[in-house]
Amino acid sequence: MGLISGMLMGMAVGIALVAGWDRMMRYRSTQRIAKAVDIKLLGSLTRDDLKKICGDNFPEWISFPVYEQVKWLNKLLSKMWPFIAEAATVVVKESVEPILEEYRPPGISSLKFSKFFLGNVPPKIEGIRVQSLKKGQITMDIDFRWGGDPSIILAVEALVASLPIQLKNLQVFTVIRVIFQLSEEIPCVSAVVVALLSEPKPRIDYTLKAVGGSLTAIPGLSDMIDDTVNTIVSDMLQWPHRIVVPIGVSVDTSELELKPQGKLSVSVVKATALKNMEMIGKSDPYVVLYIRPVLKNKTKVFDNSLNPVWNENFTLIVEDKETQYITFEVFDKDITQDKKLGIVKLPLVDLEADTLKEHELRLLPALDMLKIKDKKDRGTLTVKVLYHAFTKEEQLAALEEEKRILEEKKRLKEAGMIGSTMDAFEGAASMVGTGIGAGANLVGSGLGAGAGLVGSGFSKAGKFVGKSFNTKKNSGSSPSVKAD
Ligand SMILES: *[C@@H]1O[C@H](CO)[C@@H](O)[C@H](O)[C@H]1NC(C)=O
Ligand SMILES: *[C@@H]1O[C@H](CO)[C@@H](O)[C@H](O)[C@H]1NC(C)=O
Repeated sequence: MGLISGMLMGMAVGIALVAGWDRMMRYRSTQRIAKAVDIKLLGSLTRDDLKKICGDNFPEWISFPVYEQVKWLNKLLSKMWPFIAEAATVVVKESVEPILEEYRPPGISSLKFSKFFLGNVPPKIEGIRVQSLKKGQITMDIDFRWGGDPSIILAVEALVASLPIQLKNLQVFTVIRVIFQLSEEIPCVSAVVVALLSEPKPRIDYTLKAVGGSLTAIPGLSDMIDDTVNTIVSDMLQWPHRIVVPIGVSVDTSELELKPQGKLSVSVVKATALKNMEMIGKSDPYVVLYIRPVLKNKTKVFDNSLNPVWNENFTLIVEDKETQYITFEVFDKDITQDKKLGIVKLPLVDLEADTLKEHELRLLPALDMLKIKDKKDRGTLTVKVLYHAFTKEEQLAALEEEKRILEEKKRLKEAGMIGSTMDAFEGAASMVGTGIGAGANLVGSGLGAGAGLVGSGFSKAGKFVGKSFNTKKNSGSSPSVKAD
């Protein structure tokens, strides 16, 4: 759901900004107080490292003794929280409601916020690691925890009922990866990249409560919300997907954007010993496969068999072989709602380039086995996979092709050919696919909306950062710090 991702984006960027700003300001004030101290503060990075990265204006603020800095950051964060919360509220109101509208599943006629307040509890930063030193870039991983007391109510109108839904007990545990793209000019940062690391998997827990009614009044609503949250988080926010925020004008961020890196030729060969879900006869299985949920492919339905043979070929685009995986989901086609027969993930990191290999994959009832009671064997899926890394030309062509597909989807959607949340799949698969439309929309515009959304949150947060520092200066509670 746009709500969660919008909130996370706004917050993540705000925090990244606070972290960076804090370091920079501390550096400056430290410099003013005692010029000699800065070398001691460089922590893990040597002066030469930094000099290489950023010419003469190297960002000494990037490295501080970890413990002290985190404590300081949390203090700052709680001071600034009212401003960040306010900024995020504005962003959500302005930008997320239209996205929500896009994600609106069939059967729901309106989806809006009737109340949105992030609460009084600021998130907590548990630690920061400076990860790698690529030329011109600094990567920081921020351990982020938020068990807030937000007050969020969604007004849901369906054909059958109209319900205010409250989001309660929100808990977010994630590692936020922030990449600062450095420049030669002050303030030495030309762009910030923000993403949620996929390992450890972001944990976003919440409970949904219908205010003055029952959730069951709208069947499938809570599943729909869960699936949409997962789809959007993994398709937009989770590394390698990222949000790129240019700082200043005319910054070339194309190097930072996620790009096709190679392609996978996948043959879905067959499955064996699938579980039978039918009362009469046998399952009618088909396979949905994808790397990004926004670009799903699907085999034909193989009627009445627990040992179906498909032998169908697909091409999937890979953006980050190191961290991505391909997901295969086997469904039983049914008149009412398709049932999931099994699911399995194949990580791409071990695939040898340009070598066709057959994999026999054991299907699981669900990826999260904790939620499953019936742990019986679900059979196997046989696939053949070939990875090919793109040349520069192939990469450009793939980029164009991806744009074309997403724009086509958007066009079809606008023309009413596919429902607001449905891809070409029906039944259960359409449930899984909720949010495809909006995702396509966002990606199709080159993440325009996403970046814009964050952009506005960013500038607002930025304003508040400045304000906060001025306040601090006036109150005299900390060394003289001035944002210029
Ligand atoms: C796979 O999905 C993409 C994107 O939806 C589509 O363009 C392509 O034709 C599909 N491929 C096959 C073999 O169905
Ligand atoms: C599908 O891919 C396999 C290799 O994985 C190849 O042998 C086969 O000829 C392909 N089938 C079609 C119809 O292209």
